Amino acid sequence: MKVAVLGAAGGIGQALALLLKNRLPAGSELSLYDIAPVTPGVAVDLSHIPTDVAIKGFCGEDPTPALVGADVVLISAGVARKPGMDRSDLFNINAGIVKNLVEKCAATCPKALIGIITNPVNTTVAIAAEVLKKAGVYDKRRLFGVTTLDVIRAETFVAAAKGLNIDKVRVNVIGGHSGVTILPLLSQIEGASFTAEEVAAMTKRIQNAGTEVVEAKAGGGSATLSMGQAACRFGLSLIKGLQGEANVVECAYVEGNGEHATFFAQPVLLGKNGVETVLDYGKLSAFEQEAMEGMLATLKADIQLGVDFVK
Ligand code: NAD
Ligand code: LMR
Repeated sequence: MKVAVLGAAGGIGQALALLLKNRLPAGSELSLYDIAPVTPGVAVDLSHIPTDVAIKGFCGEDPTPALVGADVVLISAGVARKPGMDRSDLFNINAGIVKNLVEKCAATCPKALIGIITNPVNTTVAIAAEVLKKAGVYDKRRLFGVTTLDVIRAETFVAAAKGLNIDKVRVNVIGGHSGVTILPLLSQIEGASFTAEEVAAMTKRIQNAGTEVVEAKAGGGSATLSMGQAACRFGLSLIKGLQGEANVVECAYVEGNGEHATFFAQPVLLGKNGVETVLDYGKLSAFEQEAMEGMLATLKADIQLGVDFVK
């Protein structure tokens, strides 16, 4: 398996590269690309870690050398939030970055599974889809918005609040990746019950967790280490699916059956072609149903922004 990380010299990229160097299956290749000149050096640094994962770093304007033969491409290139900003404020810079990088993926590794981390994810995934369509290589099973950070946050916060074993807690988070579009399905968590007040407070905490980090870093960026962990979990799941492992399920922002919006985060079964099956997310509580319906106008507008950008 060859995994390419684009934006690899950044906060997420370096954390992710470190985790992948340690956790990719033996014999894998890791390819790092960033416009920053330090990137080959990051690869040399990581190459001294004694694991059976070959690593190369590339910098400059053209990501093509990093993408040759890639099975999985994880994209975290772009700018991050500062206090007072919304993820949508990143659109002006990040839209063009994602567009250019996905054009190169379409040309160089059109069959790769692509995971978009760069914000605003609700919109950048729509941009990626339009670029791939234009290039004639779009396969909705192979494009993902990485929303795993919402899942690991939900699992962490719920386990702490309810005194549950963190290794056993599983929480589906559906919708998108910003504000009200982030909807953790707390009603479905085995072994945990919540009062109406607890549901409202926990949902808000999970929705605002990105802002919690942005404010705590006080101008120094947004979540990088937890995101590295989340992207590593997601990337390894993509690889397990590609390698034919059974029952690999993750929540991700994908093009499903369009029931709610063109793209919607929900649990998916991963396999040799990426999304094998978009899974039913189960019965919603009255609170969740209302929140789900309430998010759709925002989510659809975020998606349309991406479609219009490319068109
Ligand atoms: P960062 O500033 O630390 O790193 C970004 C990297 O992208 C830099 O090294 C920069 O040189 C590189 N870059 C910029 N333009 C590039 C291009 N055209 N080609 C290649 N590389 C390029 O930022 P970060 O903290 O790593 O965050 C990156 C992105 O991830 C942001 O948009 C942030 O909002 C987003 N993010 C998403 C999630 C999520 O859950 N999906 C979580 C955290 C952060
Ligand atoms: C997060 O959820 O931490 C990321 O989307 C980064 C951000 O800007 O909040």
